[in-house]
Amino acid sequence: MFCTQCEAEGFRRITYYYDRPDVMATFSRVRLEAGKESYPVLLSNGNKLEHGDCGGGRHFAVWEDPYPKPSYLFALVAGDLGKVSGTFQTASGRQVELNVYSEKENVDQCDHALASLIKSMQWDEERFGLEYDLSLYNIVAVNDFNMGAMENKGLNIFNTALTLAKPSTATDDNYERIESVIGHEYFHNWSGNRVTCRDWFQLTLKEGLTVFRDQEFSSDVGSRPVVRIENVKSVRGRQFIEDAGPMSHPIRPESYIAMDNFYTSTVYEKGAEVIRMYMTLVGKDGFRRGLTEYFKRHDGAAVTCDDFRAAMADANGVDLAQFERWYTQAGTPVLTAAGAYDAAAGVYSLTLSQACPPTPGQAAKEPFHIPVVVGLLDAESGAEVVASRTLELREASQTFTFDGLPAPVVPSILRGFSAPVKLAPVKLVHEPALTDDTLAFLAAHDTDAFNRWEAGQALGAKLVLDTASAFAAAGGAKPDAAVELPAPFLAAFRSTLSDASLDPSLRAYALVLPPLSELSQAMAVIDPTNLPAARRAVRRSLALACEQELVALYDSLAPPPGAPFSVDGAEIGRRRLRNCALGYLCSLPDGSPGGRDAVARAKAQFDASAGCMTDRLAAFSCLVGKPDDSPAAAERAAAVAAFHEAAGGDALVVNKWFMTQATADRAGLLDDVKALVQHPDFSWTNPNRLRSVVSAFASSMEHFHAPGGAAYAWLGDAIEKVDKINPQVASRLAGAFALHKRYDAERGELMRAQLSRIKALPGLSKDTFEVCARSLA
Ligand code: TRP
Ligand code: ZN
Repeated sequence: MFCTQCEAEGFRRITYYYDRPDVMATFSRVRLEAGKESYPVLLSNGNKLEHGDCGGGRHFAVWEDPYPKPSYLFALVAGDLGKVSGTFQTASGRQVELNVYSEKENVDQCDHALASLIKSMQWDEERFGLEYDLSLYNIVAVNDFNMGAMENKGLNIFNTALTLAKPSTATDDNYERIESVIGHEYFHNWSGNRVTCRDWFQLTLKEGLTVFRDQEFSSDVGSRPVVRIENVKSVRGRQFIEDAGPMSHPIRPESYIAMDNFYTSTVYEKGAEVIRMYMTLVGKDGFRRGLTEYFKRHDGAAVTCDDFRAAMADANGVDLAQFERWYTQAGTPVLTAAGAYDAAAGVYSLTLSQACPPTPGQAAKEPFHIPVVVGLLDAESGAEVVASRTLELREASQTFTFDGLPAPVVPSILRGFSAPVKLAPVKLVHEPALTDDTLAFLAAHDTDAFNRWEAGQALGAKLVLDTASAFAAAGGAKPDAAVELPAPFLAAFRSTLSDASLDPSLRAYALVLPPLSELSQAMAVIDPTNLPAARRAVRRSLALACEQELVALYDSLAPPPGAPFSVDGAEIGRRRLRNCALGYLCSLPDGSPGGRDAVARAKAQFDASAGCMTDRLAAFSCLVGKPDDSPAAAERAAAVAAFHEAAGGDALVVNKWFMTQATADRAGLLDDVKALVQHPDFSWTNPNRLRSVVSAFASSMEHFHAPGGAAYAWLGDAIEKVDKINPQVASRLAGAFALHKRYDAERGELMRAQLSRIKALPGLSKDTFEVCARSLA
């Protein structure tokens, strides 16, 4: 098949044009002509005006898009495709034909995408009063695609990985992600297409807003706290890291060499947090008023982030002048809190202070306008005595008071992650800094589900970081090292494990320790040996301490016999929690009886779950992590062979097979990866396949950063090769070296050597050049 991808500056490679987003035109007659047999389907934006035969085995179609659009939203598709179809009637009565196209052998996997589209259309009408504006909505799934999906007017193009799903090939996470990305591209029809960007510096105008809208969609149709935790994990695990490195930029960047490099976590995810802060400041209804005002003022125009801010301010009669700094200043602000209770007066006062570290080109920062949502809990009973309240921090430091409090309180600060900042541990005046006991108290009692999770994570983070320091001081960890678990931490873990009244997804997220990407941010110099060893040791110690409870939990969550497979929230939660328990059990020492039982459970689950990719993949990754000298090595080899065989060449399943192996927690992973790229199914040209091995491996802290720099050299060679094929993907791979200053001197030198070598390559793309140059600057 043939398909176009124009955003950001691709249309100029099709033809001469004023290829800027503020040049909007009506594409009134787009004529496609092709061989009938090879390309029976001919699509473009808008509505089909005419089609017919041109003789000689060829045919044509003429399309018209009545809405003026910038060239980046233009699209063409020609191919031999199958489809599933549906209809949607808009609130004002328009009948819309919906089609999801894919290669013919995959049309049985398009139903979830179609259902998600209908859900999205319904939701945008209900939540924001926004309707679809054409009589046709086409989605085409393609195998070779650099990003997730593209919102071309009336003709979205999607990566197959974000379209196709059936229970035997897609995980629950895949199902959820497909729903949110289908929503994302649909929501762009208003936030992006009807109102677009004046120039590419304004990208977050459409992307931050549309990510926010897709997050709200997922929250409304699913579980709000679960979605919030997932989104915040992503901001912290990706955006905070970007912000701490040489590529740090404000959500509205000031310069670019290759615009494709600025489709970043900062523009998308921090951009969405900035939009969320408007809602926190003006309220849910106020936000809807502001959004309605924005579309009313600017429908059909190409505008700026300032126009959005002005619409929000005017619709709500508030002053958002200082709020502009979120668009101009890069970096992650650090929020510090100090509380004091005056028993005689019955007053609790909370002093909030902010500071933002320097970022490239910005040494000093002005204070941000930060909404800090705070609630107060009775220190004795845990009951909420002051409900969530939004404090507006505008100065470097401000004190807020709460009166009428007869007894001491514990503050719950930054509820729901009300701003994209790092919260330093709270200091309670006259008391020691936030102790494990206070965190455990919040983990047990906080009435805000997000902050309850957050407190548990903070407890786990402290323990892993302390353990990493202890390992480093002792010259390294012993294999199968165990850790003494502090009582408050173990008690919190146990109570989550056994509390059947909690949402299973929330329980699963509460039981998992923070990821390495997050933990590493708290280290002055990242230690890629002792930090992973510490996290592993804490996990193993938890499994040893709670083995019986974990086994009981795992067994109690077995699929109900004979029940049909379903991807509703309850079933997703059940599988998530059960697989979390399995993961813990499989961290038990390999030779121990518990370890052997765990492998047997994983193997049984693997064998029994051919119809459920979520369970299959969870068991597979437990087995793939086993080292070659372990008693489970045979199970590992058998599972690797069986998984590949059962994939039957299904590209998305084969990607999972590659990715699981390329991210396995095994010594000598680089050798495994070198073998994987020799496998006949590996491809340097298919972006999904390439990422499933190369990007996946580069994300492994311990193995990518193994001493000596062999993995750096290997990745450098891979980047050199890929740059000639696909610069957009190559420049993303080069991002793996961006944190060279956060590692020790020796690793830093080795990473810089790769960056310098690549930067000097003759014929290097401007995409990869920009990432190397910025990283080295
Ligand atoms: N606008 C798309 C989205 O966020 C993403 C996108 C930008 C893209 N550039 C692209 C997709 C290039 C594919 C290729 O939905
Ligand atoms: Zn988008």
